[in-house]
Amino acid sequence: MNARDIIIAKRDGFRLTDEQIDWFIAAYTADEVADEQASALAMAVYFNGMEPTELARWTSAMIESGQRLDLSGLSRPTVDKHSTGGVGDKISLILVPLVAACGAAVPQLSGRGLGHTGGTLDKMEAIPGWQAQLPPDRMRELLDSIGGVIAGASADLAPADRKMYALRDVTGTIESIPLIASSIMSKKIAEGTDALVLDVKVGRGAFMADFAAADELARTMVRLGNDHGVATSALVTRMDDVLGRAAGNALEVQESLDVLAGGGPPDVVELTLALAEEMLVLAGLDGNPAEVLASGEALAVFEKMVSAQGGSLDAGIPVAEYRETITAAEAGFVQSVDARRVGVGAWRLGAGRARKEDSVSATAGIMCLAKPGDQVAAGEPILELHADRPELLEPVAELVASSVSIGPDAPPAQSIVIERILAPSLPQSP
Ligand code: URA
Repeated sequence: MNARDIIIAKRDGFRLTDEQIDWFIAAYTADEVADEQASALAMAVYFNGMEPTELARWTSAMIESGQRLDLSGLSRPTVDKHSTGGVGDKISLILVPLVAACGAAVPQLSGRGLGHTGGTLDKMEAIPGWQAQLPPDRMRELLDSIGGVIAGASADLAPADRKMYALRDVTGTIESIPLIASSIMSKKIAEGTDALVLDVKVGRGAFMADFAAADELARTMVRLGNDHGVATSALVTRMDDVLGRAAGNALEVQESLDVLAGGGPPDVVELTLALAEEMLVLAGLDGNPAEVLASGEALAVFEKMVSAQGGSLDAGIPVAEYRETITAAEAGFVQSVDARRVGVGAWRLGAGRARKEDSVSATAGIMCLAKPGDQVAAGEPILELHADRPELLEPVAELVASSVSIGPDAPPAQSIVIERILAPSLPQSP
């Protein structure tokens, strides 16, 4: 075997053999294949794609590059959720304790955010004292007792993907459906969950801007999961407007606490309940997530999850020192709140990182004081910018001032879930 022949085969449109795939991924993980060769192969896949069986093998090889967590023998069924990322997407902070409160074990291993969408670990780290890293034994213990864990993925979970993703980031090869699908699914399958619900976001604030691409990505990942023995369903969901009102780490923790306490923005509640229902079906659990959320049981689980990892909610969630308000230029109904602009704005205020080594501000971000459908008067506050460094406020204010569009009539209400793609093992809706 040699890397050059494998690159040429893919460049010329051939299906790679199982042996070629296994060899390439193992050799790349062991630093025996050069970065430029792996980049060339990624570019060849970008242009020529992969057949379903080829992609399944590629994903298996990525899983085999590291350790697969063993979550067998827990007293609860395991089920997790993965989102392809959106602005204001704090759903995991509510969903993990909620589904745990319904009787499941939810082993959510997450990463840190890169670019304009935030990462779940960055949000949790806004809670004073909270630690992301957990040894596997402690994770099993917490999954059994509390049911929910949010933690950082260890370095030996799909290490081939870790290397490959960093390379794709700098070689223009992120936007390839087979590479995205295998990257996400190798990590989720290696995490050891029995079942998985994917939240594939589509719209101007998402990775996938158009529905056809989001649908193809969702179907590709659902097939990969089920072929690897993980019961997997997907929801394709809208990500044109900011999800909820808060974009920024501590601001999103506070909003999640509001939802766990029975309040919070309706779109966050709607999406959380839709995902929870799919997770419970896959886990084979009866339960009414809306009732459990209203009862305060999910909040109690979240408090236990936080203190089990050293965090404390008693002192309150930190807030930024500097703020600036943006007001409506005219009266009318809010039509949209451009998720990408707000996401980039929050990122520039310090909530996100440009390179994976950068640190993030816990308190920076943007509150959307007005949501689509709200009626506003001219001069009424519509956005509130939060920062630790006052000099960042003005340039971001200019950037996000036009992110809220206002019109004379109320926009039509839209459901956040656009499509459900169910695991083949479940009864399919007509
Ligand atoms: N997230 C991942 O984990 N991998 C990708 O390729 C894209 C998004």
